[in-house]
Amino acid sequence: MELKRTDNDLFQVIQKEVNRQETHIELIASENFVSKSVLEADGSVLTNKYAEGYPGKRYYGGCEFVDEAENLAIERIKKLFDVKYANVQAHSGSTANMGAYRAIIEHGDKVMGMALDQGGHLTHGHPLSFSGIDYEFYPYFVNKETETIDYDELERQALEIKPKLIVAGASAYPRIIDFKRFKEICDKVGALFMVDMAHIAGLVAAKLHPNPCEYADIVTSTTHKTLRGPRGGIILTNDEEIAKKVNRVIFPGIQGGPLMHIIAAKAAAFGEALSEDFVIYQQQVVKNAKVFSDKFIELGYHVVSGGTDNHLLLLDVLSKAKMSGKKAERLLGLANITCNKNTIPYDTKKPFVTSGIRLGTPAMTTRGFKENDFVEVAILVDMILSNPDSEETFIEVKRRVKVLTDKYPLKY
Ligand SMILES: Cc1ncc(COP(=O)(O)O)c(C=O)c1O
Repeated sequence: MELKRTDNDLFQVIQKEVNRQETHIELIASENFVSKSVLEADGSVLTNKYAEGYPGKRYYGGCEFVDEAENLAIERIKKLFDVKYANVQAHSGSTANMGAYRAIIEHGDKVMGMALDQGGHLTHGHPLSFSGIDYEFYPYFVNKETETIDYDELERQALEIKPKLIVAGASAYPRIIDFKRFKEICDKVGALFMVDMAHIAGLVAAKLHPNPCEYADIVTSTTHKTLRGPRGGIILTNDEEIAKKVNRVIFPGIQGGPLMHIIAAKAAAFGEALSEDFVIYQQQVVKNAKVFSDKFIELGYHVVSGGTDNHLLLLDVLSKAKMSGKKAERLLGLANITCNKNTIPYDTKKPFVTSGIRLGTPAMTTRGFKENDFVEVAILVDMILSNPDSEETFIEVKRRVKVLTDKYPLKY
């Protein structure tokens, strides 16, 4: 390894992270493990290339091969989501959202997005995010009883607020989102419709979730969550005028040179997502999440909305284990189980403390976990949360975590 020779300090840091990834059970719902091919493209010499502009229209010479890489990414993502236009240059999901807003609305416009403490993302109107600063955001909510989006109430609010745009999509919502209903509400109030499918893009690609491209004026996504690609963003649309605006706002509006190695890695990931194996993988992600959720319910936990339809679940740890999400995250981390604290609907605790944790199945399903493995993980999580002061329990759980991570090694 060259890095070991030239910069052993950094090499050791990376080795520690490799070891952490190998030995921990990764339950962060927004993370995944890319394939060796994606990693290879990500670490390729395309990182050396400046290519401001778009394929065929660059501001630099020598772009003939990076043009081919970008065209592959564009063609593959269009096929994957059955959509007419795609921009694959956004450096991240947040940048993609900024690009989407700038392409279709003006500063100060009214926008409705899912309440941030009920599943929405920072870029859906947090006061410190560009989104909350540049636009006038109004939150919509889940129903207190069902803990699922209250479409009737959303419609009532939309009629009152008359937003220019309604955003669907979330960071922590365990149920199918009814894009058709959203679109009907948008049409009724004369609003544009945007979907941020960052979390569920892989499920949409595998046709396990309705495709927002059928309904929305504009669709954004990250590429590194269920879609299992490199870190990055994409913007999709069926509208030619919107597509032209998107390209202008991404470059030169927001970004300079595109990350061509990342775009190549996106092409690799989109190619993989078009395969039958990917569909089987996504089916397993969903099956695992269902069994995982069922086991927690059996163990006496409240799972938000009573279960899950997708790749994640929200576990209310306060009501059963009498501890905050913050404490649960820390204790599970000590037992080599990684997850994140998360607010639950109508949470009584602050976002940095929370009453819940968010648990996802995409990463460990990539490593090969099946339903029985997730039953075991639920048991291990419960052992820690039920016995937070027992040293023997931690030793036993860590031993059983090792059995699982050794059984399904990270194949890099
Ligand atoms: C729904 C949603 N949109 C956008 C983003 C932002 O993506 P990024 O972290 O790449 O900026 C996230 C990230 O968690 C997300 O969950």
